[in-house]
Amino acid sequence: MLRHKKIILGITGGIAAYKCAMLVRLLVKEGAEVKVILTKAATDFVTPQTLSVLSKNEVTLDFFDKHFNWNNHVHLAEWADVMLIAPLTANTLAKMAQGLCDNVLLATYLSAKTKTIVAPAMDLDMYQHPSVKQNLETIKTFGNLIIPAEHGELASGLTGEGRMAEPETIVEFLKNYVSENLTLHGKTALVNAGATYEAIDPVRFIGNRSSGKMGLAIAETLAAQGAEVTLVLGANRVEIKNKALKLINAESSDEMFEAMISNFQNKDIVICSAAVADYKPAKPSGEKIKKKDEILNLELVKTKDILSELGKQKTNQLLVGFALETQNIIEYAQQKLKNKQLDMIIANSASEQGSGFGADTNKITIIDKHNKITNFELKPKQQVATDIVNYIIKLINKK
Ligand code: CTP
Repeated sequence: MLRHKKIILGITGGIAAYKCAMLVRLLVKEGAEVKVILTKAATDFVTPQTLSVLSKNEVTLDFFDKHFNWNNHVHLAEWADVMLIAPLTANTLAKMAQGLCDNVLLATYLSAKTKTIVAPAMDLDMYQHPSVKQNLETIKTFGNLIIPAEHGELASGLTGEGRMAEPETIVEFLKNYVSENLTLHGKTALVNAGATYEAIDPVRFIGNRSSGKMGLAIAETLAAQGAEVTLVLGANRVEIKNKALKLINAESSDEMFEAMISNFQNKDIVICSAAVADYKPAKPSGEKIKKKDEILNLELVKTKDILSELGKQKTNQLLVGFALETQNIIEYAQQKLKNKQLDMIIANSASEQGSGFGADTNKITIIDKHNKITNFELKPKQQVATDIVNYIIKLINKK
């Protein structure tokens, strides 16, 4: 959830600052990019060097660095997806409540357009003081989120409420915040990908060269945007490492039909990117076919068209198909869009260099049901997946 998320960690001068080394490590492990700002008081508890090594970024200490370059708090604030202040002392809290700005951390906070999440840490009586309570309420009204202090032994020797939430708790809080704010949070998606194998006999099949890369990239992009994704993967033996995807394996077109139909009803987004065989052997042999005659005739029958069936059963799902063509790309894709009752189709060319099966890149054209045609450049499949998912998000928002 925190992969590639840009986080500013502001550390103020409380003993809990020592825990921030671990906090930075956990955030980086989650894939976040972290930039640390330390107040002067915080440097008494934790060193900039430690935090710089752990965050793999320079630490900001003042409006000017040691070479007298101006640390632009506005750029820092713009860079961030989220700002975290941990530990938050009573002093910085009071300044946040008042809009005071006597250090680079407060200047960045006041400039930030993103959410600020704070983890207060104080001694027992300070945390209970009416002014602290009031200031916490005040900064809440500004839209800041508070990770409450925990109960336990305090640095003073007293026991009670005031300890900064543990780094693991802070990371969990951030993950929940990020996931709840993703565009497709609460949406469900069903994607099929890869090739089907149609049995001729127990050891032979009719298949195709689809790698499943495009569908997998789409499934992962939908999941990264917060959707709950079920991926129905064809006969490709690729390892799916992404734990966010619910995986169903389907080898033949019949198995894929079954998996797609039975998982279709409660989905918001359904994308058929699989290269499903159009024909299958009419009577697959139960035994290995022996080599005898000069000519072997194989009778083929049409497979069930999964996407057409989904189009018929569609209630509220946004249904997306692919059209892989070698000629008359737009025209054929428009026909498929209409015949299969889709909301959008992604057309690509099997004959264009760098496009289609097996390639790491793709060049697509999206056509929606209002016949709006959008062409995209040749790009890596991961970026193509982003274009597709962004288009889907636009359509969902219009629904
Ligand atoms: N499709 C499907 N079931 C099939 C065949 C295709 O669900 N038995 C889906 C594909 O996943 C794709 C879309 O239909 O999203 C178009 O597939 P394509 O192979 O381009 O077209 P076909 O409908 O099979 O027609 P043709 O092969 O004649 O172009």
